[in-house]
Amino acid sequence: MIPYNAPNFSEKKLLSTFLHAHQAKVPIWLMRQAGRYLPEYKILRAKTGSFWQCCFTPSIAAEITLQPLKRFPLDAAIIFSDILVIPHAYGVKVLFDEQNGPILNFNQQANLSLLRYDPAILEPVYQAITLVKSSLPKTTSLIGFAGAPWTLAAYMLEGKSTNLFDKAKLWGDQHPKEMQQLLGLLEAAIVSHCVAQIDAGCEVIQLFDSWAGILSTDQMLHWSLEPLKRIVRNIKQLRPGIPILVFPRGVEGFYGLYASHVGMDGLSIGYETSLSAVAKEVSIPLQGNLDPNLLAEDLDQVLVQAKILLDLMKNRPYIFNLGHGVLPHTPIEHVAALVEFVTEYQA
Ligand code: CP3
Repeated sequence: MIPYNAPNFSEKKLLSTFLHAHQAKVPIWLMRQAGRYLPEYKILRAKTGSFWQCCFTPSIAAEITLQPLKRFPLDAAIIFSDILVIPHAYGVKVLFDEQNGPILNFNQQANLSLLRYDPAILEPVYQAITLVKSSLPKTTSLIGFAGAPWTLAAYMLEGKSTNLFDKAKLWGDQHPKEMQQLLGLLEAAIVSHCVAQIDAGCEVIQLFDSWAGILSTDQMLHWSLEPLKRIVRNIKQLRPGIPILVFPRGVEGFYGLYASHVGMDGLSIGYETSLSAVAKEVSIPLQGNLDPNLLAEDLDQVLVQAKILLDLMKNRPYIFNLGHGVLPHTPIEHVAALVEFVTEYQA
């Protein structure tokens, strides 16, 4: 028996987007809505010790997930976790350095055959989801997520954050067979992690392919689009009816291909991309794409831009969001004003 309860789409503003009916009000949530721009996050994070400890202590991950919802009338909660929990569950050592971001200890030549996925490591994530679900208002949706294979492989192969991932791309080109092996291992874990999040209470899944846009066309097809297509097909086979959003950041000119081949329910669009250009190319629900840097710096312009996006998407299924995560130096008043503006806007 499938343990999950299929969600009631019409009582939740975010889920109703996927019914493709006219929306009088546009739903809003923000990528990285829980995090360092909130003083209550910084306090809890300092008290807990490390970012990983926050992610893997169910009561703390649940509390952080709910922090932004206590301040702002957001339409969704996204479980507080990270895309790098999957490499971690494969036994890769992942450290979070305050200055430089994640550091991964993985030697592809030596270690590929040693990767063993231990789903028990991710149990605290599912416990956190169950805790959040029990205290979430009926009208608020709960989003689970995973990194896409290429974006996870990029961090594993590079060992750290960069804007280029040259080492990862080169290794993939030089070792096409091993690269497919690595992507395949990640695919299996991503499907299992998403299914477990759904079973714990998530009603929407978002797949982050944050680094899809730096690939050549051939790499993009084989490392991003095709794995995503298999993942979406598998999740839909195992847990039908759960909407899947995909965020293939920066794949200019390829959104039409992603929409027609991957079979996702909605596309999340990065801030570098023109939402109106994508809206012309595809008809599925879109999410995005206000510039998080603008949100941090200039509230007047934020409201001007938000109105432009809302007017542009007026007659289409649309979820308001940023085009990437909230930045740590973002003033809380800016977030509050943006959420209020979008919530009150009449489409
Ligand atoms: O959106 C949310 O509120 C849910 C939580 C969430 C986090 N990371 C928390 C986090 C989500 C959905 C992510 C996704 C994620 N993580 C992505 C995909 C989206 C994107 O940003 O492109 C990626 C690439 C990562 C990997 C990652 N995790 C990096 C590169 C970093 C360091 C950069 C940074 O912002 O510090 C992290 C750490 C991280 N993940 C933090 C948070 C709140 C900061 C941890 C801290 O120091 O408190």
